[in-house]
Amino acid sequence: MSQRSWTIAVLPGDGIGPEVVSAAISVLEDCAREFGFSVDLVKLPFGGAAIDDSGEPLPPETLNECNAADAVLLGAVGGPRWDSQPLERRPESGLLALRRELGVYANVRPIRLREPLRALSPLRLAPSVTIDFEIIRELVGDIYFGVHSTEGHGAGERASDVATYTVPEIERITRFAFERARRRGHRVTSVDKANVLATSVLWRKTVTRLGAEAPDLTLDHLYVDNASMQIILRPQQFDVLLTSNLFGDILSDEAAALAGSIGMIPSWSAGDGPPLVEPIHGSAPQLVGQDVANPSGTILCISLLLRECFGQPEAASVIELALDRVLGAGLRTADVAEPGCTVVSGSQFTAGIRQQIRERVRDQTPVRAADAKPQSA
Ligand code: IPM
Ligand code: MG
Repeated sequence: MSQRSWTIAVLPGDGIGPEVVSAAISVLEDCAREFGFSVDLVKLPFGGAAIDDSGEPLPPETLNECNAADAVLLGAVGGPRWDSQPLERRPESGLLALRRELGVYANVRPIRLREPLRALSPLRLAPSVTIDFEIIRELVGDIYFGVHSTEGHGAGERASDVATYTVPEIERITRFAFERARRRGHRVTSVDKANVLATSVLWRKTVTRLGAEAPDLTLDHLYVDNASMQIILRPQQFDVLLTSNLFGDILSDEAAALAGSIGMIPSWSAGDGPPLVEPIHGSAPQLVGQDVANPSGTILCISLLLRECFGQPEAASVIELALDRVLGAGLRTADVAEPGCTVVSGSQFTAGIRQQIRERVRDQTPVRAADAKPQSA
């Protein structure tokens, strides 16, 4: 019998991390009940909160529990409280260490403009145009993980960051992107800066070599400056966009804006260790304590996890459908509000999704959009 029970390490982190994570967990628990599987949640200190407790953003105990789990669910890290700390004592360094320690080298960021949010895209899209592509971001190499150093003082101060890629690192992320493309539109666009950077020259050479062994795929290459323009001009040209760590970080925020809000985008990191899911947005300290954060990105992390890692595509689809129905009914958190919509709190929005999930599963008849409004809204 296939597995029906999973242990998930839960790292809420800082800022709005805890609230979006608790929204996502409530959705996960509903799905577990409705679809007959079980989850064992282990909540762990991480990020700035862990620095305040124990002096380290990734305490050894947290890492051990993550390694022992079937998956890791993470909220967000960072905040003004730790911004003046040296890089190695910032919450973000714990996030990078976690990714590296788990060996999750392949970060999948699905960029999808959900139909109810069409009018919110900053682009003037023809009605036939949809935005639906995947950014595959290499996650454990590049300038993020090279030596960062500063020396000297005052006007004489110098700083440097070292970017490195090896052939095996590029090969494994390329193979991963190729497999993703085989499940989609069979097109891969590799993004680099091979007219300037040595790492990019190696990247392009390696991707091109592997591409020659993949005749079923269409492979193109773009320089990152051009790619950032193409994402705005013609996002529909992309199917799988393969890129390095730093470029993927930048391009995914740009692409997320096309989907109406960065709050809408989940991510899944795969590799050697347990998978890690996290929304792509930050800790948004300015939103903390107001219950206004959009939990969609983290809720979609649950559907990614269920579909890609736990073999529960039905539950994943129900979550996505519930989300679309609530958005379609005009219940919106402030970041995706538009005229005629009802602006609700993050928890009211989550309650709407949970109600949709329960109704959807118990009563196979389609649920009317108006029914999505929670009583309190
Ligand atoms: C992301 C974030 C992180 C990154 C930060 C918080 C270190 O921006 O996941 O995109 O740069 O990878
Ligand atoms: Mg980022």
